[in-house]
Amino acid sequence: MSTVNSSLDKIRQEALQEVREAATIAALEQVRIKYLGKKGAITALMKEMGSLSPEERPAFGAVINQVKQDVETSIEECRTTVRRKEREESLRAEAVDITLPGYRRGVGTVHPLNRVCQDIIDTFTSMGFSVAEGPEVELDFYNFESLNFPPNHPARDMQDTFFISEDVVLRTHTSPVQIRVMERCKPPVKIIAPGKVYRCDADVTHTPMFHQIEGLLVDEKVTFSDLKGTLEFFIHRFFGPETGVRFRPSFFPFTEPSAEVDIQCVICGGKGCRVCKGTGWLEILGAGMVHPNVFRSVGYDPEEVTGFAFGMGIERITMLRYRIDDIRVLFENDLRFLRQF
Ligand code: FA5
Repeated sequence: MSTVNSSLDKIRQEALQEVREAATIAALEQVRIKYLGKKGAITALMKEMGSLSPEERPAFGAVINQVKQDVETSIEECRTTVRRKEREESLRAEAVDITLPGYRRGVGTVHPLNRVCQDIIDTFTSMGFSVAEGPEVELDFYNFESLNFPPNHPARDMQDTFFISEDVVLRTHTSPVQIRVMERCKPPVKIIAPGKVYRCDADVTHTPMFHQIEGLLVDEKVTFSDLKGTLEFFIHRFFGPETGVRFRPSFFPFTEPSAEVDIQCVICGGKGCRVCKGTGWLEILGAGMVHPNVFRSVGYDPEEVTGFAFGMGIERITMLRYRIDDIRVLFENDLRFLRQF
């Protein structure tokens, strides 16, 4: 019995020592398993109680229970302390220095092309036009044929086309939207159609992808004067009432008569510069009276309705408005340029 007592005391000392040394919850758990687990040292001694005489058992029982309780209490106390320490450490590790300066987020702005496009849309919607859209990958039929460009006609060479296949192109202008709208709607029609167009063309005033806004008005008794009045109203509202405007006779297969409209070069004031190629004028749009063949291709009767159409380059107008002398800066996404707007 006394040997048992002394080995119990030794186990108690060792267990308490190991509890004190355990620095983490996991280490404490290891100590608990070592002494109090199913195969633990104290558990093993408790099992030995059976081999003692009935007289010895109560005293041994009292001692071993005390040892067991001491170790349990010590583990419990230690667990609270270790937990507190672990939490303090993790708080210290995750601490944020709220006195450090933060990161400043850049505020974006509307791209000048979008801004100008929206202003043009606003001007025309204020005159009662509504906005229509069409696909950028377009059938040859809509881009050319229904617009009175016969197959193999030289007029097709006016626009350097990107072909996807023999019948499918990247639209070279927004005019195919005219056809798509007239196919769907009966007259009167009064729409504008903004969007991207593509041509194999690149210099200071041309890029392979650019934006146009198409306009189409069809009704009874629409005249060329209505076209002139509408475009002059737009140009004077957009560039100021003093801006010089001129209509030059031109040719488009889908309008007759046709015109190109120039405005006075606002970069050089009409004296001649790199952008206007020394002429003092910049072409901003093509326009004309809708050709009877176009009406026929959508089932309209050219004896009953007439109409005008126009198509303008948004980049040109943006360059003029902001005095930009190279179209390419609009697509380079240089923040130093874009931040100015
Ligand atoms: C046309 O595209 C006709 N569809 C316009 C039209 C519509 C005429 C309705 C009659 C009736 P044009 O190829 O001229 O026409 O182009 C129209 C405008 O787009 C030009 O005045 C110019 O401002 C702009 N533009 C043409 N090519 C480019 C290019 N490569 N880069 C930037 N802008 C361009």
